[in-house]
Amino acid sequence: MDDEADDLADSPVEGPRTGAEAAPANDPPAQAVLRARRLCRVYRTGDTEVRALWEVDLDVARGEFIVLLGASGSGKSTLLNLLGGLDRPSSGELWFEDHCLSNADEDTLTRYRRAHVGFVFQFYNLIPSLTVAENVALVTDIADQPMTVDEALALVALMPRRDHFPSQLSGGEQQRVAIARAIAKRPQLLLCDEPTGALDYATGKRVLEVIARINQELGTTTVVITHNAAISGMADRVMRLVDGRIDRIDRPPRRLSPAELSW
Ligand SMILES: Nc1ncnc2c1ncn2[C@@H]1O[C@H](COP(=O)(O)OP(=O)(O)OP(=O)(O)O)[C@@H](O)[C@H]1O
Ligand SMILES: [Mg+2]
Repeated sequence: MDDEADDLADSPVEGPRTGAEAAPANDPPAQAVLRARRLCRVYRTGDTEVRALWEVDLDVARGEFIVLLGASGSGKSTLLNLLGGLDRPSSGELWFEDHCLSNADEDTLTRYRRAHVGFVFQFYNLIPSLTVAENVALVTDIADQPMTVDEALALVALMPRRDHFPSQLSGGEQQRVAIARAIAKRPQLLLCDEPTGALDYATGKRVLEVIARINQELGTTTVVITHNAAISGMADRVMRLVDGRIDRIDRPPRRLSPAELSW
């Protein structure tokens, strides 16, 4: 088990972008970082069974930017949590590169998350008693080849606030700290669950700009859940979930910058 965990932590970080941009939306990318087959997550509470995710097939290419849309309860967070190793499927297969996550034990999933995944949630989950720099250092202290705290803060344009406490920051600034914390370990995957859900228009755009920049400059494979369909314009591919299934996948003709989006 340790072997597999070490193996997971050592997986290569670099890789060329695929030619997936030119392919039809439903064709699997040539070089998938994530691969799901008939992925199901069923919640059972007493007599009730909820098929939160049902027989989902999915391939995510290295460096891809995916936007996940769908009504409340359609299974978006369930899928993101499985991709990030926060939860395990009820059935089906899930692979990260050539490592099977669907039958991994808790320790292996923990190491997978620690080595490869950065999470950003709607509410920033910063530690209020620590400064901005200290919040980011929580991650850089335990990662293998992290950026420095200041490098991560520079990427989100927050160096001037490094010694402030979260309560002294605006919502958008707090979210940018959360992004700095998520990317400081140079994760291969950045998984964002409604990252702009609590932010106003201008601040939301600023946060999206940071996410787009990280995707493009670091080549970080990125999945963003949103209720805001306008954000789809930023994506390489847009997936719509309906009742736990992928209802359709679209490939916008051109990736827009957040500045070009309006809603
Ligand atoms: N722990 C749980 N126990 C039972 N049912 C759950 C649990 N978590 C989620 N569900 C159910 O699974 C379905 C999918 O939930 P999920 O959180 O993935 O939806 P979502 O698309 O993220 O919705 P939202 O946009 O509201 O965040 C919902 O019907 C939800 O009620
Ligand atoms: Mg959700």
